[in-house]
Amino acid sequence: MKKDLVSIDDLALESILDYLDLAARVESMSGAEKASLLPGRILATLFFEPSTRTRLSFEAAMCRLGGRVIGFSEAAASSTAKGESFSDTIRTVEQYADIVAVRHPKEGTARLAAEISRVPIINAGDGANQHPTQTLLDLYTIRKFFGRVDGLKIALVGDLKYSRTIHSLCRALLLFEGVSMTLVSPETLRLPKYLMKAAAAATATFRESDSLAAALRECDLVYMTRIQKERFPDLVDYEKVKDSYRLDARMLEGVPGHFKVLHPLPRVNEISPDVDSTPHAGYFEQARNGMIMRQAIILDLLDARPGRSAT
Ligand code: NCD
Repeated sequence: MKKDLVSIDDLALESILDYLDLAARVESMSGAEKASLLPGRILATLFFEPSTRTRLSFEAAMCRLGGRVIGFSEAAASSTAKGESFSDTIRTVEQYADIVAVRHPKEGTARLAAEISRVPIINAGDGANQHPTQTLLDLYTIRKFFGRVDGLKIALVGDLKYSRTIHSLCRALLLFEGVSMTLVSPETLRLPKYLMKAAAAATATFRESDSLAAALRECDLVYMTRIQKERFPDLVDYEKVKDSYRLDARMLEGVPGHFKVLHPLPRVNEISPDVDSTPHAGYFEQARNGMIMRQAIILDLLDARPGRSAT
């Protein structure tokens, strides 16, 4: 049966851990070994919304596995601009590709694509809903830095209302043992209630806070997010909150040596460039891990994992 990756909610903890292990395995392989895994296979990247990291890391992942890539990076360059339906686009692309990564501004489009398509669909972000491949790479990054996810104190900062990276990450962190999440956001950009309620059934906890400085003192890592301008129904509201948080190197003085700053990127001005040269900056390594995790995901969904005997 074909397998898709549409929502982090579709994955049990064991499947998440399995992806982390597979990514570690892929990372340890030589370039030549990797390049022999998917010769002749084709990934289609259908991006109806802007992207740098997600699309290019998917494409680099496929190329480095020996496969090839087709696709478009904006709806205007596809027949969508002529009025073609999303379903017809998917039905067409599945004739050409073995696997499809799709990003779309509307929530639920990846699920729709998965229902229609005979080939595996990967959700590369659907509106403000979910971004499961980002979550897997975030967890991979966290485990690489800390050796574990259980028991960590994590500050989630910025646009908790509209960030799909946050929505997926929170759901996944609730599956781990004793993770404590400090939620730092403007009043109008709080984490949605349905996610707050999900904590009731978990050993992980949520705590709301207004102070980034306090969160830095109390946590092991901070996950910053961009205020998602494109999701605001009214830009007047965006103007009010757009500069709510700005992390700079001075604010990190006194944090423990192991403290890390993560961000799915792109940043606008929520992390000052002077943080980049501190030992706490983890976001570019995080972006690199995106390529590795996406290799693991493509290999899994195409049922082409490297032979287990070499582990
Ligand atoms: C994020 C996204 O598109 O949701 N970016 C990414 O995929 N790395 C975050 C954002 O756009 O702010």
